[in-house]
Amino acid sequence: NPSNHVRIVEVGARDGLQNEKTLLPAEVKIALIDRLSATGLQTIEATSFVSPKWVPQLADAAEVFRGIRKVPGVSYPVLVPNLQGYERAREAGATDIAVFTAASEAFNRRNINASIDESIERFVPVMEQAQADEVTVRGYVSTVLGCPYQGEVPVADVVRVARRMYELGCDEISLGDTIGVGTPARARAMLHAVAQEVPIDALAVHFHDTYGQALANILACLEEGVRVVDSAVSGTGGCPYAKGATGNVASEDVVYMLHGMGMETGVDLDLLVATGAWLAAQLHKETASRVTRARTAV
Ligand code: HMG
Ligand code: MG
Repeated sequence: NPSNHVRIVEVGARDGLQNEKTLLPAEVKIALIDRLSATGLQTIEATSFVSPKWVPQLADAAEVFRGIRKVPGVSYPVLVPNLQGYERAREAGATDIAVFTAASEAFNRRNINASIDESIERFVPVMEQAQADEVTVRGYVSTVLGCPYQGEVPVADVVRVARRMYELGCDEISLGDTIGVGTPARARAMLHAVAQEVPIDALAVHFHDTYGQALANILACLEEGVRVVDSAVSGTGGCPYAKGATGNVASEDVVYMLHGMGMETGVDLDLLVATGAWLAAQLHKETASRVTRARTAV
């Protein structure tokens, strides 16, 4: 892939917060997204319209979505698990959504109380409605390099689920190492296999940094041709239904690496670092971004 541009999909306001024990008020979430909008990011996942019983932190999705400043040219996708979530998202004004499933049966059962096939059946009406409304749809495939409940996940299962979501009309498929167990050669081989069935330009990678492999995995996937990378400012994140999973790779660290390689993201690293440090203070915890630690050391 000759392109020098990488699009960062900032998931800190959604993935980053969904597992946080400290409940943040809506106005802090709005301030976070507005600050992220000022950094030059093109895609900022804003929240999720899932069941508030399952993810209490994001029960204020509509208030947050309505409250953020929508900068022209920036998209603000929201996570949607079913038609009920789709309707709530549309009512709040969303024009970009993300649906999600996993390559592992055991994980899907715990995360969304459905099998892989049932979850895909649930998307069909959501996808049809989204197409009629000209809403863009991202599709997440979780547990692409391992599952907290079943362990190994065959690459063939990842390929099958990704291809099915693409056939159903997802504009982009994000491949998620939900529990951060992958290593570079396996990440690359998995991406290579999926790219035989789904165009590489429609693929994104989503790494959690549980085992400290995320940047190495991203580099391997960039070499394989991917140009869309998910990350979360300050390295927050984790899925409440993925035992032992820690944060997403920190956006600051991804941007630092990419700029150091001569690739461009359009993101102002200084503003991103300031936002990461601010968010860590809001959450009363040390940032997980090495770049932010280095730049804000006293
Ligand atoms: P269920 O309990 O099987 O569903 O949950 P249900 O249809 O029987 O509904 C139960 C109750 O929830 C009902 O309320 C519904 O109205 C309500 P009640 O009658 O009991 O009062 N409900 C809703 N309320 C608001 N908005 C909705 C909604 N849907 C139902 N959209 C369900 C099934 C899918 C809803 C549930 O399991 C759920 O919400 N799961 C979400 C879990 C989640 O958000 N996980 C994290 C995101 S995935 C992730 O992080 C991975 C990713 O980052 C990539 C990676 O790292 O791999 C994307
Ligand atoms: Mg995630």
